[in-house]
Amino acid sequence: MVWSRRTRVDTRYAAESGPAAVPGAPAVAVAVAGLRFTYPDGSVALDGIDLTVREGERVALLGPNGAGKTTLMLHLNGVLRATSGEVAISGITLGDKSVRDIRRRVGLVFQDPDDQLFMPTLAEDVAFGPANFGVVGAELTARVARSLDAVSMSEQAHRGATHLSGGQRRRGALATVLACRPDVLVLDEPSANLDPLARRELTQTLLGLTTTMLVVTHDLPYAAQLCERAVVIDAGQIVADGPIVDILSDEALLARHRLELPWGFDAESLRRARAAGVG
Ligand SMILES: Nc1ncnc2c1ncn2[C@@H]1O[C@H](COP(=O)(O)OP(=O)(O)OP(=O)(O)O)[C@@H](O)[C@H]1O
Ligand SMILES: [Mg+2]
Repeated sequence: MVWSRRTRVDTRYAAESGPAAVPGAPAVAVAVAGLRFTYPDGSVALDGIDLTVREGERVALLGPNGAGKTTLMLHLNGVLRATSGEVAISGITLGDKSVRDIRRRVGLVFQDPDDQLFMPTLAEDVAFGPANFGVVGAELTARVARSLDAVSMSEQAHRGATHLSGGQRRRGALATVLACRPDVLVLDEPSANLDPLARRELTQTLLGLTTTMLVVTHDLPYAAQLCERAVVIDAGQIVADGPIVDILSDEALLARHRLELPWGFDAESLRRARAAGVG
């Protein structure tokens, strides 16, 4: 099969996942249909995205700089609104009336943690979301403590974001979203700026959640650790969708879309480990 940069999703991969209804399959958590988005300056960022994610799935969103990954995630809770097409979360179509409900269901962890931290202390930042959704008192205090603990940031609770390192701010930003207990967690570059231990702890935290997850990342081994399925986006279109081990083993596909495994990382060994149940 010949692919071009603008090729529609490759059917070898699409056949193995995506929207096809399977009897007894988990309910659909995220349904994106025909999504197009043009920024006010005329840049076409999304050019017809169709994506279905089922409850409990962890999906990596891969693609080169400028592919449309962040733009897509900003549509999932209505930060950006589609030029055309539709987004539905747990069967609820995003619109003016549903946007508040959908914001409660979809937690976005932004590419830049500074977009998420604006209160005098981290504890107040973490309390902000659930308080906004009506959580008060002991329940609020407990949620803040649990969320900070989940990202190993309890000791920094009373420091302001400006006094935290880049990696600490990133972990704090994740805590602000975990505290809202979203049905769908969308993370934009969660491993960027993390030291190896923080990266591993974050992986353990995320693997411990049953939440449906979309993870935008350029860190392909990290994506493979977290996700079974990968979706590759380029020029605002989905160009591949399937098991992450297949996608990371396809050197031609990776090269066509400016994706590269780091030196020493072997996708075949990942496949063998997964097959043996130790991956
Ligand atoms: N505020 C904006 N105004 C105009 N165009 C924008 C804006 N933000 C993004 N774009 C354009 O939209 C396209 C998609 O950008 P987006 O930020 O979604 O890419 P991305 O896949 O997240 O890239 P990266 O890997 O660099 O984070 C790019 O062509 C980008 O230049
Ligand atoms: Mg981005």
